[in-house]
Amino acid sequence: MMVDIKLKRTKVSEIDSGLIGKHLFLQGWVRTCRSQKGVTFIELNDGSSIKNIQLISNQEHALLTGASIAVTGTLVKSPSPKQPFELQMESLDLIGDADSSFPLQKKGHTLDFLRDIAHLRPRTNTFGAVARVRSRMAFAVHEFFQKRKFFYVQTPVITSSDCEGAGELFELITETKNFFGKKAFLTCSGQLNGECFATALGDIYTFGPTFRAENSHTSRHLAEFWMIEPEMAFFDLKQNMELAESFVKHLVQTALEECSEDLGFFEERYEKGLKARLQIVLDRPFERISYTEAIDILLKSKIDFQYPVEWGKDLQSEHERYIAETVVGGPVILYNYPKTLKPFYMKANEDGKTVACMDVLVPKIGEIIGGSQREDNLLKLEEGIRSHGLNPSDYDWYLDLRRFGSVPHSGFGLGFERAVQFITGMENIRDIIAFPRAAGLCSF
Ligand code: 4AD
Ligand code: MG
Repeated sequence: MMVDIKLKRTKVSEIDSGLIGKHLFLQGWVRTCRSQKGVTFIELNDGSSIKNIQLISNQEHALLTGASIAVTGTLVKSPSPKQPFELQMESLDLIGDADSSFPLQKKGHTLDFLRDIAHLRPRTNTFGAVARVRSRMAFAVHEFFQKRKFFYVQTPVITSSDCEGAGELFELITETKNFFGKKAFLTCSGQLNGECFATALGDIYTFGPTFRAENSHTSRHLAEFWMIEPEMAFFDLKQNMELAESFVKHLVQTALEECSEDLGFFEERYEKGLKARLQIVLDRPFERISYTEAIDILLKSKIDFQYPVEWGKDLQSEHERYIAETVVGGPVILYNYPKTLKPFYMKANEDGKTVACMDVLVPKIGEIIGGSQREDNLLKLEEGIRSHGLNPSDYDWYLDLRRFGSVPHSGFGLGFERAVQFITGMENIRDIIAFPRAAGLCSF
């Protein structure tokens, strides 16, 4: 029988015991279908929730996993303790059939296997849950900054400046030779453009795609990732740290409050104690440790790290994780790194050796935020650019911000995928973005 499409669709996430006795219209994809002796049981998922709803029919239906259907029926109390309610089906329409070659026919595929069928990953419990948490977190980013009267600025994807000066840019090649009249790249950070707006509007943030041709095959690096970069005028490093801490806490709190079912799934399937680990983030202040103190702690640990520990050398993931996981047991902010390790734009400290920067490190991941107070003195900034082997004339527009009404200002960048990875407990960052791009990986 054809479904009466005049009925308003109900999403599975909206169904609760209050709807028992009501006539409902549902649309979704078949997860399983068992038919015997004139009765059919269908598990339907419509993506709105990790939960399926059980549909029961007094007829036999032969449906395969993956098919899309529309059904009407009455919500009834379920006799089984497995679910509080189920739908007594009255009509069923097959919308799009799926045959036995549907790759998700069986349960229990590995995440590696699923990465090869990225276009179908969202139909699985894991990626559906990641996508829902990710969506809610994106909204939480805007909530956090909009509530604080920050303005959302969209910075360009195509750029001619290397913000981080790390030489990890993807260069753009065009059919028209010399299209821009100079070399152009995919941006590795919106910060420099963001600073133009912060030194006009006060408080701004960006939230957009970022590209880095880092040849790192790690569980924490992507070639294309999303970054949130707030930038604040009249703001020093201490205030920057406070904002970063509140921001991370806001994301974690929102996840615990609003994504409880999906986090419950991650807790059950991937990480025991996930919610308790997140609760610790809310309960404690983030510890602040200077780079110099961190080096001392690492040296005193007597641990035989793979990479040597020495003042002036960069901290590797093993060092960052040791400090966050073993020393602190929660998020920690490391600040004042040697200037030789950091980009040209960071404010020089009076010791002549370090810059006013900060990295927020968390257990399991290491760095999720990098930021700093910016050098607001024209001469010192020019000096910084030169000492990094760059040419001040390439940054003339950026230097103008220090020529005209310069102010102390600060900002940071949060890697969105690393944040969602931290919140879901997923092991690999490639499973946090729908279509991952990394060295050797650009399918679909
Ligand atoms: O520490 P980074 O390089 O800082 C900046 O880009 C500054 N311009 C930010 C600012 O002050 N406005 O990158 C910031 C964050 C890192 O802490 C990390 O979370 C993430 O971006 N990130 C990556 N995430 C995934 N894949 C990569 N290859 C990443 N590189 C950086
Ligand atoms: Mg960094």
